[in-house]
Amino acid sequence: MEFAKNHKNHYNLGMKYITIAEIPKYLSQEVLIKGWVFNFRSSGKIYFLQLRDGSGRLQAVVSEKDVSKETWQACQKLTMESSVEVAGKVYEEKRSAFGYEMQVKELKIVQLAEEYPIAKKEHGVDFLLDYRHLWIRSERQVAILRIRDEVIWCMREFFRQKGFVMTDTPILTPTSCEGTTTLFSTKYFDDKAYLAQSGQLYLEALAMALGKVYDFGPTFRSEKSKTRRHLTEFWMLDAEMAFAEFEDMVKLQEELISYVVQEVLKNKSQELKTLGRDTKKLEKVKPPFLRMTYSEAVRKLKKLGSDIKEGDDLGGDDETLLTKDLDKPIFITHYPVKAKAFYMQPDPKDSGLALCADLLAPEGYGEIIGGSQRIHDLKLLGKRLKEFKLPKKDYEWYLDLRRYGSVPHSGFGLGLERLIAWICGLDHVRETIPFPRLLNRLRP
Ligand code: 4AD
Ligand code: MG
Repeated sequence: MEFAKNHKNHYNLGMKYITIAEIPKYLSQEVLIKGWVFNFRSSGKIYFLQLRDGSGRLQAVVSEKDVSKETWQACQKLTMESSVEVAGKVYEEKRSAFGYEMQVKELKIVQLAEEYPIAKKEHGVDFLLDYRHLWIRSERQVAILRIRDEVIWCMREFFRQKGFVMTDTPILTPTSCEGTTTLFSTKYFDDKAYLAQSGQLYLEALAMALGKVYDFGPTFRSEKSKTRRHLTEFWMLDAEMAFAEFEDMVKLQEELISYVVQEVLKNKSQELKTLGRDTKKLEKVKPPFLRMTYSEAVRKLKKLGSDIKEGDDLGGDDETLLTKDLDKPIFITHYPVKAKAFYMQPDPKDSGLALCADLLAPEGYGEIIGGSQRIHDLKLLGKRLKEFKLPKKDYEWYLDLRRYGSVPHSGFGLGLERLIAWICGLDHVRETIPFPRLLNRLRP
């Protein structure tokens, strides 16, 4: 490996080190940029280097006649993904895909890269996932990860404006929240622990302390299904409100999703363009969203050819069928109590139905949020634990919330990766998280 020997002594030229994103503020000035050469070509006496530095992309032009022998020789050695420092004048270049160029005065190689394993050619997804640690450098992946960052900040901004307190729920837990079939278990000294499937139960306790709360963190499900919307480790935002009922919870979801989508459209238009996303569809994502009850959905699905049975939860294919021609998200409400989790408040008009709503994203994406009003009555909750065969003693602390100042309360959980897959228009959630964990993938 060649690493620049006198690395510390680079550039005593008095040039300012800036990022590519800052170039518009330094037009016609000489600056220093540090980054990677993701592509290059030469026409004998000129090198065209395509650089990226994380903040953006830039073409740097090196003319033999304008640079020292050292700089020219360094260019001749360059390989794809070598790290470099380049100094020179930056200017606007309308003909360039990046909008700006640099006329290089000096170039130094920081490290000369070995032959890059995922250069250019078309690769299969499995190959790319094996090289995920390098694949994330590509333009598309960078665009997705920047949108992920935007979505997270927007959600936080939204909840802060609404007076919610951001709080944290544990990852190592003694019980299940969303059924026992998808639990990851781990030894916990002499005991057994499960990785959290959702922070909800703890968040309910925090809502009784802080009023309106949300958490955001990794959650885990040992999903044996290989689908385009399942990860085994994914990020969930749970929100919970004391003194709030079903309709309050639905309204909050509608406002949150509209806010996030409109902010991403405004602040990440370049990234959406890189991804080729049809933004016309996203522009329509504004309240009110569509609504349908579970039984209406089942009737519609049967007409569309699904083999769903009354009483079953909707499957992924059913969600696709319901939403593929929609341009707005749709709430599916009032599922049968038995198809959902143990904690959902029954509908006062029909105790067999739950006051719950799943929010399905349009264009076939399907469920992105699950939410409900929670049972606040101690007796009923005890009865449900029994019906769902959950050990009451492990939930005593949760039952305490119904013993000491119980109030109607409601909340929901949003799956970040599914939201991003829809906003970016991707066909699989695996590209929405830096290092996806899937049924058959724990590496890198
Ligand atoms: O619908 P779910 O299971 O609801 C809950 O966990 C509630 N306790 C949340 C709450 O009320 N606070 O999961 C919530 C969301 C889903 O709508 C989906 O977007 C996402 O989490 N999700 C997954 N995302 C990726 N991979 C998986 N395996 C997922 N399972 C759920
Ligand atoms: Mg759900």
